[in-house]
Amino acid sequence: MEVIAVSSFKGGTAKTSVSLNFGAALAQFHGKKVLLLDFDSQANLTAGLGYDPDHYDSLAPVLQKKKGVNEVILSTRIQNLDLIPADTWLERIEVTGALASDRYSHERVRDILSPLEYDICIVDTPPSLCWLTESALIAAQHGLVCVSPEFYSVKGLQRLSYFIDYIGARHPIAVLGVVLSFWNARGKNNEAFLELIEETFPSKVLETKVRRDIKVSEAAIYGKPVFEVAPKSRSSEDYIQLTRELLARMEKRVASPASIGEGHVQPLDTVN
Ligand SMILES: Nc1ncnc2c1ncn2[C@@H]1O[C@H](COP(=O)(O)OP(=O)(O)OP(=O)(O)O)[C@@H](O)[C@H]1O
Ligand SMILES: [Mg+2]
Repeated sequence: MEVIAVSSFKGGTAKTSVSLNFGAALAQFHGKKVLLLDFDSQANLTAGLGYDPDHYDSLAPVLQKKKGVNEVILSTRIQNLDLIPADTWLERIEVTGALASDRYSHERVRDILSPLEYDICIVDTPPSLCWLTESALIAAQHGLVCVSPEFYSVKGLQRLSYFIDYIGARHPIAVLGVVLSFWNARGKNNEAFLELIEETFPSKVLETKVRRDIKVSEAAIYGKPVFEVAPKSRSSEDYIQLTRELLARMEKRVASPASIGEGHVQPLDTVN
């Protein structure tokens, strides 16, 4: 199973929307068996798929060894697309019960996911560098970086790049791509943003940009991916194209395994 951690350390860069629409498109159009892991206590991915986070267990009781992982997996209305929901308990999970005294707590997520029989697992992470995000990156072979075309979003990428390199020094992970959402093809700073991203993540910016489109938010209200609610919308087109591009990158990577820690390795204290 290939695990993809969707991250940015920043709020509102479309991590959850990318996780949902990319995951759903893989299942619906490419016959992949997909598991979505909502690993953000805000539980937006859970709600965005039509589930009330207060009514279901998250990965928390599994991390606390109180439940088996198969007991917390929900099926969604899309065939081949399953979900492990989130709840508020996740927020302080690392200081609770069994994890608080576990030196290898970060590796727990990887160990829990590895026996599962899915083609792809997509982990939606919170907008910060917390235990959940670090554990997701340690469980993943691929990092998918989300960014919006705004100065602070683009500048913040450097910190994420250092952190992925730091993780890469002890665990094989490589950046699959950088997804730009909220794209406006006529934005006057587009070239400057693309150059800055290219400096931090060379050759990683995906050709497909997800254009700004109110249909993305509307679809979440219905608990569905955008291509089900508004199949002719521009964001539906973009997500379908983005999924093709990401799959092609993953297939290429399987043919030639990614190098470990692709760039400069920095000690953790320099990136906080
Ligand atoms: N392409 C788009 N066009 C317009 N709105 C979008 C687009 N993508 C996402 N949105 C909306 O922007 C808001 C933030 O998106 P989302 O929740 O996916 O970001 P996030 O990075 O997961 O946020 P957080 O950091 O809080 O978890 C949501 O209301 C979402 O519906
Ligand atoms: Mg989110």
